[in-house]
Amino acid sequence: MIATASVTGLMRDIEHLGIDLRRGGYSRPMFSTAEADLRSWFIAEAERRDLSVEPDLNGAIWAWWDLPNGNREDALITGSHLDSVPGGGQFDGPLGVASALVALDELQKREISRDRALSIVVFPEEEGSRFGVACLGSRLMAGAISPDVARNLRDAEGNTFAEIARKHGLDPEHIGPQPELMAQVGAFVELHVEQGRGLIDLNQPIAIASSIIGHGRWRISVYGQGNHAGTTLMSDRRDPMIAAARMVVKIRDLATGESDARATVGRLQPVPGGTNVIASRVDFWIDVRHPDDAVTAHLVEDIREQAELIAAEESCTMEFREESISPTVSFDASLSKRLQESLPSAPILSTGAGHDAGVLAASIPSAMIFVRNPSGISHSPEEYVEDADAELGGTALADALQPLLLNVSSRAEA
Ligand code: GLV
Ligand code: MN
Ligand code: MN
Repeated sequence: MIATASVTGLMRDIEHLGIDLRRGGYSRPMFSTAEADLRSWFIAEAERRDLSVEPDLNGAIWAWWDLPNGNREDALITGSHLDSVPGGGQFDGPLGVASALVALDELQKREISRDRALSIVVFPEEEGSRFGVACLGSRLMAGAISPDVARNLRDAEGNTFAEIARKHGLDPEHIGPQPELMAQVGAFVELHVEQGRGLIDLNQPIAIASSIIGHGRWRISVYGQGNHAGTTLMSDRRDPMIAAARMVVKIRDLATGESDARATVGRLQPVPGGTNVIASRVDFWIDVRHPDDAVTAHLVEDIREQAELIAAEESCTMEFREESISPTVSFDASLSKRLQESLPSAPILSTGAGHDAGVLAASIPSAMIFVRNPSGISHSPEEYVEDADAELGGTALADALQPLLLNVSSRAEA
């Protein structure tokens, strides 16, 4: 057993990794040097605690605090992710990993009795910021994306997931569902920084999650005629950038007209991308979210229809492709009730942000704990957690995990 570390101390140990000097904040995409350094940091912390570190077939790292008899049946897992969006904050993901390490220290210090193994898991590519599909590691493990689709995902440079994975020691031929590993897991509790204003408004440091609103990603490619910026009269142009710009505004208007909907275009790429070149193609990505999956589907269909009209008006053509979809998730009621018993003053909050716990909730009883973010801002350098709240989070996670480590199966109760 090692002396209990602090959440803030662990966060400070990694605060120099992946600083994005151009954008501010942190950029820690999958398979980057920063992400590799973070993974090495986690493995070193796990080994310092004598945990058994086992990478899985999809690039997740599992650090097991085994039972003396080695039984991993109905195991409890906690953890989160270490990758980030471009120019993100330092807490989205790593806070859950640091808190898991501290919770484990705390449980060891308490000398609790337990009947279940505990594993801290670090899932890869939670943000989907390199290969486009969020929660790629947990989706692969749970069979929520086909290995073939995953192998052929491409990053912004056009490299496939398979090519890059192989270069980093992950065998792309063996990615995919891991039913035996999944069958060992009895429950998953993920701690995460809150990514909105829920806890600020309630003036509380810690919440328990009720649900994640459904969300998905779609890609529009608009095709026009690449041409010369000086010799092409305005009346002679088929400019996909103009069509894309009109589509972006239309998407905002359609989402604004649908109560509780959110639609975002955060990434747009003109091809070839020259100041004096009318683009021949523009690709952009839409993130659409709503608590009712039927409304999301309907809104996306409206977006597609309106985009077709705009493309035709601008003498362009377009392609519309779904890249990923995550239905609205309600977390396991009996597991959440047990968290409420351990954390009686924690309010219950829904979230608009996606998480690996949301993906695994379809097959494993899952729950989440949120820690207050006093800026209310996330996916941005302004994301923040006060030191005192970070420590409260670590203790809350230990308090939540402790009774679950006794032999009442959350899977059986679910
Ligand atoms: C991840 O944080 C997401 O909600 O996209
Ligand atoms: Mn995120
Ligand atoms: Mn996250």
